[in-house]
Amino acid sequence: MSQQFDVVVIGGGPGGYVAAIRAAQLGFSTACIDEWKNDKGGPAPGGTCTNVGCIPSKALLQSSEHFEHAGHAFADHGIGLDNLSIDVAKMLSRKDTVVKQNNDGILYLFKKNKVTFFHGRGSFVKSADGGYEIAVAGAANESITGKHIIIATGSNARSLPGAPFDEQKILSNDGALRIGAVPKRLGVIGSGVIGLEMGSVWRRLGAEVTVLEGLPTFLGAVDQQIAKEAHKAFVKQGLKIELGVKIDKVTSGKSAVTVTYANANGDAVKLEVDKLIVSIGRVPNTIGLNAEAVGLKLDERGAITVDDHCHTNLPNVWAVGDVVRGPMLAHKAEEEGVAVAERIAGQHPHVNFNTVPWVIYTSPEIAWVGQTEQQLKAEGREYKAGTFPFMANGRARAMGDTTGMVKMLADATTDEILGVHIVGPFASELIAEAVVAMEFRASAEDIARICHAHPSLSESTKEAALAVDKRTLNF
Ligand code: FAD
Ligand code: NAI
Repeated sequence: MSQQFDVVVIGGGPGGYVAAIRAAQLGFSTACIDEWKNDKGGPAPGGTCTNVGCIPSKALLQSSEHFEHAGHAFADHGIGLDNLSIDVAKMLSRKDTVVKQNNDGILYLFKKNKVTFFHGRGSFVKSADGGYEIAVAGAANESITGKHIIIATGSNARSLPGAPFDEQKILSNDGALRIGAVPKRLGVIGSGVIGLEMGSVWRRLGAEVTVLEGLPTFLGAVDQQIAKEAHKAFVKQGLKIELGVKIDKVTSGKSAVTVTYANANGDAVKLEVDKLIVSIGRVPNTIGLNAEAVGLKLDERGAITVDDHCHTNLPNVWAVGDVVRGPMLAHKAEEEGVAVAERIAGQHPHVNFNTVPWVIYTSPEIAWVGQTEQQLKAEGREYKAGTFPFMANGRARAMGDTTGMVKMLADATTDEILGVHIVGPFASELIAEAVVAMEFRASAEDIARICHAHPSLSESTKEAALAVDKRTLNF
């Protein structure tokens, strides 16, 4: 007889493993199935985020930023270094260690919370009495049943037609995190989040990086005042960014990749690079799930169709994270995973998409929450804007990192904060204050009245709030 669980989670990325832990905390017998393998064939839970996404990319961003600081910024502090070098193999092996620590951490959390972990691929067999039968294809082929099923199977990188990933020269995020030596010439197609983060890593280490973007606007979803400031900084650092291109063909030769494209003026251009990262978005992953067996509905993009509560078209089948609509972010997946577990327990959780923060971990970092100025204009909403540059912030000056600003947008009448947009040092950390403020529907004046430590970068958020009312103190 197959093992029976109250909740079976398919996928052990941030959506799935967190849903499993929360379900177990709520008293459900819970299983989590994940198929990711480490290089020894063992389990590596954590999904894209832990294995080839958030965590390894941030490890390489950190290493390459240290290298860049050592090569450029240290001299200003009076620190001299001769014969600076980068050991790429060591940098990659450190990254792998960080990944493994996270994999192991999740296995430990499963044990701690009494989540039964299955290493293998989960697929629907049929609806069974009061639930669903799920086959697990792994080292041991088994079959389990769950009263509730939570699907958290994530997403895969989208390839360019006619240019499949070989992970040697044409790279997805996976290959981009494993380049064994600094390429002389690196091409990147897509100036989105991955393109800018991975392009930054390899540029800092010495690659000549050219980023080709299809849209005419740089970071179109980002507040354009912030995007322009970031663009200026990236170009100054040496990233070549071409907007409004149309990719014609990608040809992989023996040692190089040639990209033929029309530039914004319509001229035909040929770019030859040693490695090409293709980062043009991701597609929801339902491969191998056997969704047809139970009639699970997908939309035209291949995402699992869900309602506002992540409920699919099938009773007691839920889906969260990258495999459903909404931003493809680890913390969004986690929030949905927790909410679904709580909903199964009869609670009434709510995921507020308007307060999901975004961060791009470049230097300067870019972070935002809520609406952009262009969105408010398009809506015809009356708003007030306040900005404060890091140039006028004492801590930023002491750190020697004064690029960028904090920008706050508030309702013209009620003063409620509608959006906060940051480009600059530690924007990823600073944005948390704005998220809290917006969750509590704070006004700009609320932030302006709160005592912020001095000297700290967070004083810039307070000053931006003061600027909404045209009364900055330090600018
Ligand atoms: P995933 O993390 O993709 O996990 C899905 C898991 O399910 C995988 O382990 C997969 O093997 C498993 N699986 C799939 N099908 C089956 C099956 N049938 N049976 C068993 N297991 C299955 N987001 C951020 O918020 N911050 C960042 O800094 C960030 N950086 C990123 C950097 C890169 C390079 C990339 C590619 C992504 C990044 N993301 C970041 C996005 C983030 O990784 C995803 O939004 C997040 O991982 C989605 O979580 P998930 O649980 O939905 O899916
Ligand atoms: P993206 O959606 O961020 O950017 C893709 C870019 O490619 C867009 O600017 C798009 O206009 C462009 N593009 C699409 N097709 C093109 C074509 N044919 N030619 C030229 N340009 C083209 O996608 P990306 O960078 O692949 O990342 C996928 C997702 O992963 C992100 O949207 C994000 O959700 C997540 N992610 C999050 C990170 C973070 O939170 N820091 C880091 C990395 C990824």
